[in-house]
Amino acid sequence: MDRPRVLRSLNYSRCVLKNEPVRTLLLENIHKDAVALLESQGHEVETVPRALDEDELIRRLDGVHLLGIRSKTQVTAKVLAAATELRAIGAFCIGTDQIDLGAATRAGIAVFNAPFSNTRSVVELALAEIIALTRRLTEKNAGMHAGVWNKDAAGSHEVRGRTLGIVGYGNIGTQLSVLAENLGMRVVFYDTADKLALGNAHRCATLDELLDVSDVVTLHVDGRPGNSGFFGEKQFARMRPGSIFLNLSRGFVIDHVALRRYLDSGHLAGAAVDVFPAEPKGRGDEFRSELRGLPNVILTPHIGGSTEEAQADIGSFVAEKLHRYVVEGATTLSVNLPALALPLQPGNHRLAHVHHNVPGVLAEVNSILAAHSVNIEGQLLGTRGEVGYLLTDIGQDYTEEVLTKLRGMPQTIRLRVLPWLT
Ligand SMILES: NC(=O)c1ccc[n+]([C@@H]2O[C@H](COP(=O)([O-])OP(=O)(O)OC[C@H]3O[C@@H](n4cnc5c(N)ncnc54)[C@H](O)[C@@H]3O)[C@@H](O)[C@H]2O)c1
Repeated sequence: MDRPRVLRSLNYSRCVLKNEPVRTLLLENIHKDAVALLESQGHEVETVPRALDEDELIRRLDGVHLLGIRSKTQVTAKVLAAATELRAIGAFCIGTDQIDLGAATRAGIAVFNAPFSNTRSVVELALAEIIALTRRLTEKNAGMHAGVWNKDAAGSHEVRGRTLGIVGYGNIGTQLSVLAENLGMRVVFYDTADKLALGNAHRCATLDELLDVSDVVTLHVDGRPGNSGFFGEKQFARMRPGSIFLNLSRGFVIDHVALRRYLDSGHLAGAAVDVFPAEPKGRGDEFRSELRGLPNVILTPHIGGSTEEAQADIGSFVAEKLHRYVVEGATTLSVNLPALALPLQPGNHRLAHVHHNVPGVLAEVNSILAAHSVNIEGQLLGTRGEVGYLLTDIGQDYTEEVLTKLRGMPQTIRLRVLPWLT
């Protein structure tokens, strides 16, 4: 049965689009909450249940202002060059590797994703696996299906009082920390960045310190290149005899051959792995791994974040980001543009100016406005790498010539006038 869900509500009718309709194309079966939210704000939404190839995507993007995709649609530089009306792309997922971010930035197209919508789903799977492995449920379950009644407490433990070592104390690591303490676990963590310890968690100064004391070690590090193979032979050897290992972060961060050796030898009592260095492309493809066929090892097909709740949250989260970009120019949590947010006052117009990040842009914009007697009511500038983003609020008393001058600046990548006028 569907759990009642709260649809994110934008709740500010002045932002409902009143001018030229915003044409929004959503591909790959994006959740219905996204469609509902955008339509309620006046978008003209077209949905396609599958990914499109490059040529078809170029055709379908003619006249489209916002594009929503999931992980399968490749948004290449060629697509972006052809999509002259496109203002923003929503990746209704976590990763954005499928989008040529450099080309999007150079074209002044904002990209958004949903970095936290499935955090809770990953945490709940990790907790379920920690309990199942500590209790050796996997073996009991396999025995029962094979007709073996083995009522035996040996090797089965409560998690209460045991020590959980969290490597990577980010969105997922911190939430796991809080819930694990509620189960009575002692939590220690190690993070390469300075992180505030939540609850009674203890921060370890080194990874070795964490490995020395943990009954369960769980990885929640990010996918930066330096993390490739960072957990291998030396770290498994350092783990306590009889301890349990989990990886629900990225497949390439651990050495699977070494993990198998330490499981075979009995040094590790169990493991749960959700992510793999090479994952099958499609449903039904063969899964190959050194870790197949081992007792007390839970293997899952990268489903840590795959729940219906996470999909619904991704839908409304990204849809809201797209809509706020359209009506306010807000780039909070954008993947490629500087993060700016400034409430738009009724009666004002906003110039949202994406430009090359070179000296003198602010001065030039302001001198054009001053030369045309346009008063600035509010202004915010942010830069990120090669690109700058400037929000300037002005009254409605200006001429088209002002816009022509601003668009004609050599540094200008894109100028939008908000609310949605051009
Ligand atoms: N299994 C799934 O389906 C699934 C779903 C969502 C996220 N993930 C993955 O989970 C991981 C964590 O996600 P998140 O949202 O918590 O990320 P995050 O960026 O919020 O946190 C990552 C943390 O790891 C730390 N870190 C990086 N390298 C480290 C290292 N070598 N040693 C110690 N700390 C290190 C960072 O400083 C950061 O605090 C990511 O790799 C993400 O891709 C998997």
